[in-house]
Amino acid sequence: MGKLIQLILALVVLSVSVITVAANKKHCKKRMAKLKKCFEKGYQPAIFPDCKAGSKAIKKRKTKKCAEIEAKVFENQKCGQFQCESKTNGWTPIFNTTSPRVALFNISEFKVKFTENKRTDKFLYLSVNVNIYDVEGNETGHTNLNLYATKKGDKTIFTGFKRFYIAGPLNDCSRYMTLNYLTDFNFEMTTSVSQSEMFQFTLPNGAVYTEDMMECAYFSDWKEVLKEGVEAAVKLETLIPDLEEYYSTEYMVV
Ligand SMILES: *[C@@H]1O[C@H](CO)[C@@H](O)[C@H](O)[C@H]1NC(C)=O
Ligand SMILES: *[C@@H]1O[C@H](CO)[C@@H](O)[C@H](O)[C@H]1NC(C)=O
Ligand SMILES: *[C@@H]1O[C@H](CO)[C@@H](O)[C@H](O)[C@H]1NC(C)=O
Repeated sequence: MGKLIQLILALVVLSVSVITVAANKKHCKKRMAKLKKCFEKGYQPAIFPDCKAGSKAIKKRKTKKCAEIEAKVFENQKCGQFQCESKTNGWTPIFNTTSPRVALFNISEFKVKFTENKRTDKFLYLSVNVNIYDVEGNETGHTNLNLYATKKGDKTIFTGFKRFYIAGPLNDCSRYMTLNYLTDFNFEMTTSVSQSEMFQFTLPNGAVYTEDMMECAYFSDWKEVLKEGVEAAVKLETLIPDLEEYYSTEYMVV
């Protein structure tokens, strides 16, 4: 008799949890659709900065409601990544600064597009970071790619370091790189924060080259940082004052 009651209880619990998962999925879809409507009606995004908002003015009361929906879509990471119409066609110019924070999902990729303006004729240096923030808004780690370029004869030689840092002592990983496949500053660099193949370079002809962090002893610790991570930002930094004369940089989060 006791066994039978246990079995019935177990079945009830199981079916309730199945229903809950299905309801959550339905909720996600509904909320995302509502948020899209909000943007169309002129709601200015607070959390998803690249989303395009309609030009009409939106009422104060509606703004509050939309902000609540946006926060819910952001908080419920189980919903998956929210896709919206982009206001910048994806790319936003960035120079020596940190981007606004965006929602971090385990599939997030942070792209930086380089466009050459002038041939390299001296030592050039740029650091590209992706900072990870926890729910309290504290930085808990970051990826870091240092990109060096120098002139050698009539060629540009690319080298650098690929790294990630975890907040706290002795938890970083750093490797020197020779980037023989780069010949000028026309390429896209992708940081895939959750992948061991963390950095990729895509050339204009579509060829992709990967710089991985496979050998890094702390990679499992890095995964823990990402589990706690809710937001991220791209940070570009240089001490070369006229770097923009040599190349422009834009970023995009996908
Ligand atoms: C996100 O990460 C979890 C756990 O690591 C994994 O099970 C899930 O498939 C990932 N989602 C995507 C969309 O990659
Ligand atoms: C996060 O930052 C706040 C200050 O902004 C600090 O008081 C708090 O201790 C930090 N939390 C952790 C876990 O380090
Ligand atoms: C970039 O910003 C840093 C401070 O964050 C500053 O020290 C440096 O001079 C700036 N570089 C350029 C090229 O403006």
